[in-house]
Amino acid sequence: MVDVLVTGGAGFIGSNFVRYALGRHADWRVTTLDKLTYAGRLENLHDVKDHPRHTFVRGDVADSKIADPLVRAADVVVHFAAETHVDRSIMSAGEFIKTDVFGTFVLLEAARQSTKLRRFIQISTDEVYGSVAEGSSQETDELKPRNPYSASKAGADRLAYSYFATYEVPVIITRASNNYGPYQFPEKVIPLFLTNALDEIPVPLYGDGLQVRDWLHVDDHCRAVDLLIDAGTSGEVYNIGGGNHVRNVDLTRQILLLAGKTDALIRHVPDRQGHDRRYSVDTAKLQRLGWTPSARFDEGLAQTVAWYRDNQWWWRPIKDADPAYRSYYTSQYGNRLP
Ligand code: NAD
Ligand code: TYD
Repeated sequence: MVDVLVTGGAGFIGSNFVRYALGRHADWRVTTLDKLTYAGRLENLHDVKDHPRHTFVRGDVADSKIADPLVRAADVVVHFAAETHVDRSIMSAGEFIKTDVFGTFVLLEAARQSTKLRRFIQISTDEVYGSVAEGSSQETDELKPRNPYSASKAGADRLAYSYFATYEVPVIITRASNNYGPYQFPEKVIPLFLTNALDEIPVPLYGDGLQVRDWLHVDDHCRAVDLLIDAGTSGEVYNIGGGNHVRNVDLTRQILLLAGKTDALIRHVPDRQGHDRRYSVDTAKLQRLGWTPSARFDEGLAQTVAWYRDNQWWWRPIKDADPAYRSYYTSQYGNRLP
């Protein structure tokens, strides 16, 4: 059996990865380590949390008493756990440093003591490259993160590399573009706009809406990570991107159309501070290992819209009844939405 530790497995991408991994690999035993912050929810794992090859541990990656023994028992660590929302990092960055940087350090310290570990996947992000005016970022490009979230991720990205270079920890670093799909917390643009639209609530488009993101279906991301566990080379960085470069305003119109609403719901609101204009990654290195994104964006987005429409049990308790979410929404949008 292969023992796989997934940190942040109760979040959006982590839970999709746990589900994918249990279905794809009959010889994997998966342990999820997750603190269950506002973004981590057992509902994300509802169909697999009692799976016979899955164990859930609630805990903080930055707590070595919990993290050490779990890392040491693992053949493979896939480290998704992080604070992930740019707007929250602009409001308050402390938790991003604690989890994304210090938490990664704690896991790497345990990894370097391990005699068993054969792969440590550091889930970084394309945002570490900063805003890319034209062309696509290569893995060798300079890192120019421009907000506290991407800077904390860049710190973790390079820290992980240093544990490969210094201690030969079998680290691989992935830099994926914006993900979309089921179970994404309704603070990120697609589920926020979609769930607002379903309720006829205006959608707050930052600035001119001409910013560009490269959308990657979460299933394609999971397949890429899975491939890299065996086929990747230690110490290397791999970009992962869907190749779907879409302007926010076009994305918004597409979401509204799929939700059966009109553009009248669009509100142009003051821009995000330091808003990165465009991200784009070159994925040739990963494609040489045999991976290509399989989701077509229009189909993937339509399926995602259908998922949120059909699974209101999942998001209504957050949007309609969670006081912490209401308080975040009010402080983020209160004086932006007219
Ligand atoms: P998410 O916010 O949905 O989930 C994060 C998970 O980490 C949650 O379950 C949360 O409870 C857990 N967590 C947070 N702090 C923790 C701690 N101290 N200890 C243990 N668990 C903790 O995030 P996501 O969108 O699923 O992103 C997962 C990873 O992928 C992150 O590292 C993120 O930087 C990276 N990434 C995300 C995207 C994207 O578009 N969402 C793109 C590229 C890379
Ligand atoms: P987001 O989903 O927060 O991801 P990221 O900032 O990590 O790319 O935002 C995606 C894009 O959508 C980004 O350009 C900011 C924009 N956006 C809005 O216009 N309005 C919003 O309310 C949010 C949350 C995002």
